[in-house]
Parts: sequence; structure tokens; C-alpha cells
Amino acid sequence: MEKTEEKKCRHLAIIMDGNGRWAKAQGKPRTAGHLAGSDNVRTIAIAADELGVKYLTLYAFSTENWKRSENEVNYLMKLPGVLFGKYIDEFVERGFHLSMIGEVDALPKETQKVLNNAVERTKNNTGLNLNIAINYGGQREIVLAAEKYAKDVLDGRIGLDITNEQFEQYLMTKGMPNVDLLIRTSGEMRISNYLLWQIAYAEMEFVPESWPEFTPEVLDRCLAEFEGRDRRFGGVKNE
Ligand code: FPP
Repeated sequence: MEKTEEKKCRHLAIIMDGNGRWAKAQGKPRTAGHLAGSDNVRTIAIAADELGVKYLTLYAFSTENWKRSENEVNYLMKLPGVLFGKYIDEFVERGFHLSMIGEVDALPKETQKVLNNAVERTKNNTGLNLNIAINYGGQREIVLAAEKYAKDVLDGRIGLDITNEQFEQYLMTKGMPNVDLLIRTSGEMRISNYLLWQIAYAEMEFVPESWPEFTPEVLDRCLAEFEGRDRRFGGVKNE
């Protein structure tokens, strides 16, 4: 049976957890887990695109991840270069549109260069919106949005009485639909400061597989489960 459009997941967000544990279980350093995880970004982005997802937002680095060892942070900062070095041509060909959310200005200059180049090369594409959350924190995003809104009020550009939709224009996800489905891998059941505003009515799925083990088959299963759910957005089920 044809799936109705409203049942489909337009915006999928993923917390890619468990790289470290996956590596440890194989007797490898944590960085090997991040490398496998970075390759899986390509695999899952392609699968999500083929399964009809329009926006895929991936949590690559949180505002709290700076607390990790210097070695691990340095490695994570180099990963966008590794990922896009290998796959940017393919992403361009597939029509992916790359974007970033997070305080990108605070990243190492080389990381910024790689990210900006990927955004620039895909800016005219109209396919999958692959949105990377990097140096991102949901609370910080809302505070920054409130600051910008307050400035606009002080400068007389906007009034005090605004709608949720108007406030959304100040968020880093401006122009994107809110999240339909949030998946977290590796068995943890936490939100970890991710897309706090945008997940207001998202469905949640917590899967046991670590991120490097999260295959297109698991994604397909998650999306099928999502499509079977009854989303009411605070309303009442139709009798
Ligand atoms: C969480 O696993 C994962 C991260 C903090 C990094 C996620 C980054 C990637 C998957 C690859 C980079 C992606 C891009 C787009 C360049 P963890 O290290 O917390 O795992 P653990 O809980 O088992 O320790």
C-alpha cells in the first residue's frame, strides 16, 4: 500500500552514539570507532535519501564534547576533513545539500574551511538536506536565538508578541521542518541537549546497535516503526 505523505518521516535526527564502546569491544582505540562512525555517515545518508527522508540532522560534536581528551577532540575535529575528503564528490553527484548547525566559528580554522567548502559545493543542490550538528547545544541555540530576538525588539524591527513560528526563524534550523523522528543508537535513553526545541513532537526510538553497527536495514526498520505510530500532536485520536 502507498504510504500517505503525512505518515512519512521528513526530518530524521540521529544521535550517533557508541563509537567508543564499539571500538573497545574490538580491542581498538576510541578513534577507530569514530573513523568507522564517520564512514557510516555516508552509508546512512545514502540510505535515508533512498528511503525518502528529506532532512537528516546528525549530532557530530556537542558543546559538551570539548571535555574529552585533547587527543580525541583533535581527532574528531579532523573527521569532517576525512569524511568530505573521501566522499564530497559523491555527495555533490547525489544532489545532497550540506548545512551545519552549531557554533562553527569556534572550531579550528581548518575544520571550518572543510565544512564551508562542503556547504559551498552543494549549495545549489535540492536533494537530501544533510545537516551536521557540530559544536552544537540545544540550550545554547535557544539562548542565542533569544539574544537575537531581543536585539530585534530593542531596534524596533519586531514586536514583543511573537508566534512560535516567528521564534523559529531565530533558530539555527531556520527554514527546516521540525524533527519527525529522533533515533539514538547504542542503548542510551537520553536527549543530551540535542534539538530541544525541534523535537517537541518528535517520535523517539532508542536502538541497541552502536552507531558503526547501525545499518540501512536497521534504519528501514526504524522508519517502518515510525510510520506505524499514531501521531496526535496533543490532539485526540480519530474514532
Ligand atoms: C558518540 O559516541 C559519538 C561522538 C561524540 C562523535 C560522533 C561523530 C561521528 C560518528 C563521526 C563524525 C561525523 C562527521 C559528520 C564528520 P561515543 O564516543 O560517545 O561512544 P561511547 O558512548 O561508546 O563512548
